[in-house]
Amino acid sequence: MQRESQLLKQFHWSAEIANYEAKRRTAERIAKEVKDGQVIGAGSGSTSFVALTTLAERAQREGFRFSAIPTSHEVAMACVALGIPTLRPMDAVPDWYFDGADEADPAGNLIKGRGGAMYQEKLILRSSPKTFILVDRSKLVERLGTRFPVPVEVHPMSVRLVEAELLSLGATEIRIRTGSGKDGPVITENGNMIFDVRFASIGAGLEKDIKSITGVLESGLFWGYGVEIVTPDS
Ligand code: 5RP
Repeated sequence: MQRESQLLKQFHWSAEIANYEAKRRTAERIAKEVKDGQVIGAGSGSTSFVALTTLAERAQREGFRFSAIPTSHEVAMACVALGIPTLRPMDAVPDWYFDGADEADPAGNLIKGRGGAMYQEKLILRSSPKTFILVDRSKLVERLGTRFPVPVEVHPMSVRLVEAELLSLGATEIRIRTGSGKDGPVITENGNMIFDVRFASIGAGLEKDIKSITGVLESGLFWGYGVEIVTPDS
């Protein structure tokens, strides 16, 4: 028999979850979608963590099983702790995907990536026939960029080129994301850095323009993917 890991049994979200009740209510709206044997793409961030827990609780209560394709090591660890089998993106196509977002506009365009997982998140979202984006009212904006910059994942060798190209695309502020205290740049699971970029305006075409810069792996701009926005009271 496999030896139980004390560490994994103790795993829990590392910080207190803000707006827990609202996140839980939103999660319950999608928990009824999960069916026995499904493969579900699992997004990153605190909202996704609450959703994953809610799905796992329902499956346990009703005696069925589902698998997950996690979008970050953090979510993969949560799956292990919750007893949810995991698959890699190349192993399977998800039946559906859920995730949070930092901003959502009325057309369902998104800014994501405060957790730095936007490459894996976009990969799973684009592989999935259906995506639910779980947000509370504070994430709903009239125009993207109202509160948050656009995260851009950049290979370290290309920072100078990417900075220049982003400025030519209309960037008004570019910051390298750093950790707290004396930590250096945040390094993603793919070994890259993150630029947090403000633009004077964000519109159709910007996502592709950013992506076409040599050295950019992905951005947190999700434009026109037809996602379903789910709020606590929708
Ligand atoms: C991580 C993300 C998250 O979905 C986004 O940052 C929202 O996080 P939270 O649910 O904690 O507010 O894109 O890369």
